[in-house]
Amino acid sequence: MINGVKGTQDLYFPEIKAWHRIEAAARELFALYGYSEIRTPVMEHTELFVRSVGDETDIVSKEMYTFQDKKGRSLTLRPEYTAGVMRSVVENRLHDSARHSRLYYIGPQFRYERPQKGRYRQFHQIGIEALGDASPGCDFECITIGRELMRRLGIAQVEVRINSVGCPRCRPAYTEKLREALAGRSGELCQDCRRRLETNPLRVLDCKVPSCQPVLTEAPKISECLCDECAAHFEEVKNLLSEFEVPFVPWPRLVRGLDYYKKTVFEMISPLLGAQDALLGGGRYDGLLGQLGGPALPSFGWALGLERLALITPAGEEKREPEVYIAWMGGELYKPALRIASKLREKGVPVIIDGEERSVKNSMKRADRLNVKFAVIVGEDEIKAERLTVKNLESGEQFAFGVEEAASFFMSNS
Ligand code: HAM
Repeated sequence: MINGVKGTQDLYFPEIKAWHRIEAAARELFALYGYSEIRTPVMEHTELFVRSVGDETDIVSKEMYTFQDKKGRSLTLRPEYTAGVMRSVVENRLHDSARHSRLYYIGPQFRYERPQKGRYRQFHQIGIEALGDASPGCDFECITIGRELMRRLGIAQVEVRINSVGCPRCRPAYTEKLREALAGRSGELCQDCRRRLETNPLRVLDCKVPSCQPVLTEAPKISECLCDECAAHFEEVKNLLSEFEVPFVPWPRLVRGLDYYKKTVFEMISPLLGAQDALLGGGRYDGLLGQLGGPALPSFGWALGLERLALITPAGEEKREPEVYIAWMGGELYKPALRIASKLREKGVPVIIDGEERSVKNSMKRADRLNVKFAVIVGEDEIKAERLTVKNLESGEQFAFGVEEAASFFMSNS
């Protein structure tokens, strides 16, 4: 008998039912937020991961399945999806089309880790990537989508941990401070940490070696060294989460194990998982697209581990195209507009709302590019009158509706 490869799993009934339920819930939810699926190859050029994930990360330095093909090219089975998706965005110029600015994926990843419950060498991720939106509203919405997925799957015990890892303006000063603080105690650190202290000090904070932990606990915190822009961005993400009742815990030591992050990073953990308690992780990675030869578009995304989620998903079971774009006018109307979006989604209407402020003209252009049938205009007059202006973008007709009425209208007219 030939056994399966260590760290891989065969999946079949009844466990596969939980996978189907999760995948269907994710697809349904992502569609409600205007995301479309992307599938990229399982293997990529090794260089892609070295350049994006970073050569001093555990993933690249220890965990990749790298091999040479028959022509001597170095290829790698993807250890994560983001790098491949960004490679595809650049290569296929997906950034030229608004319809490709919200992408999701479901598929296998490969990392040579020590297998245990919840940690495999072939595992599967579900993730989303949002391109072109630098606003805290984008971070907020992405985090909310992850949280909402957990809620829909009936997973109660989830904690959202959030931090900011700063940007190329403020991080170097922090890195130096960290290097100085740790240098005095380098004798207490493992060999890898001592090397990383010189090459990429931030990665020292990812170290899982127990003897390094007391030193790392006392290390300076990046959240205390943010520049004004990063600090304001982080504050606004936290404000939005608080205001929209998404519970979170600031987690000053969270830096995530990949080099591409800037500003917001977050993780969702569940005590139901045991030792491998990270269920979902992600953050903002504004420089990556530019680094891979594309335009300098900001981006935010996350991925969850399907095996881990399946372990804690209660047994249990979809699908419209996004038809509605919410155009809000003026910064103070963003939150009321978010509330309207939320009410419409409650009624099952798929809605797109952007975090970035636009003029009426640009909003209509954006709605047009998104190819939605209706635009909902949220201006001061609409809020005062508690009536939404709904524009049919195909016929040019315009209506004034309350939110409930608008929801019924969309459900019967799309
Ligand atoms: P990551 O934190 O490396 O992030 O992985 C995301 C999730 O994949 C983890 O929270 C965990 O649930 C699952 N996972 C990771 N390694 C394993 C393993 N060996 N076995 C089982 N599950 C595992 C990323 O991969 C980023 N690309 C996320 C992202 C997307 N950031 C921005 N966009």
